[in-house]
Amino acid sequence: TGPRLLAFAGSLRQGSYNRRLVHVLAEGARAAGAEVTLIELRDFPLPVYDGDIEANGMPAPVRELQALMASHHGLLISTPEYNGSMPALVKNTLDWISRPTDAGTSGVALFRDKVAGIVSASPGPLGGLRSLLVLRDALAKLGLLVVPQQVAVGQAADKLPDYGVLNDDRLRTGVHGVAAAVVRQVRAGLLAGEMA
Ligand code: FNR
Repeated sequence: TGPRLLAFAGSLRQGSYNRRLVHVLAEGARAAGAEVTLIELRDFPLPVYDGDIEANGMPAPVRELQALMASHHGLLISTPEYNGSMPALVKNTLDWISRPTDAGTSGVALFRDKVAGIVSASPGPLGGLRSLLVLRDALAKLGLLVVPQQVAVGQAADKLPDYGVLNDDRLRTGVHGVAAAVVRQVRAGLLAGEMA
């Protein structure tokens, strides 16, 4: 079987530009031969991380996200930029997944040696570029290999009118290039026997 990638946008709102963009990223990955599971974080509602909540029983969405992470070879993320950083939603989601699993194994191990591709979208001119630096670093600290290619889509209101529609040939090629790089890297890892 080919590379399996888990994709999500780091925004909950209906009209999210990043939600529109993650569809472009997923399309690129499918074109490169991956199976993509595109999820909405809205369907996995999580409280802000609280050790007391965890101690009283792990929220079901955490278990579901951990199972999804376990069954995929990598991540495709489109993130907004909030005050020059990644949204709390994205960090909170990664932090919950990193907690010990039902099987008593490390949640961080679910990320190790997996591959990530990241893009961002913003109505501003820089497209949320600064959030990519922070997200790249956070993913690397969890042990993921983040491919060097990345794309920040500025003026998102004009460029991303609908899900999966990116009105800029150069940027669309770039986003598909991020996805293709992830697929290539996963394939290389599969060949090397690093991933199941
Ligand atoms: C923003 N926004 C924003 N944009 C940006 O380019 N750089 C920034 O630092 C910030 N900071 C910021 C902080 C907070 C708290 C909010 C709510 C918003 C604007 C942001 O890019 C815009 O709301 C996008 O539309 C968010 O992405 P989605 O929801 O469209 O995917």
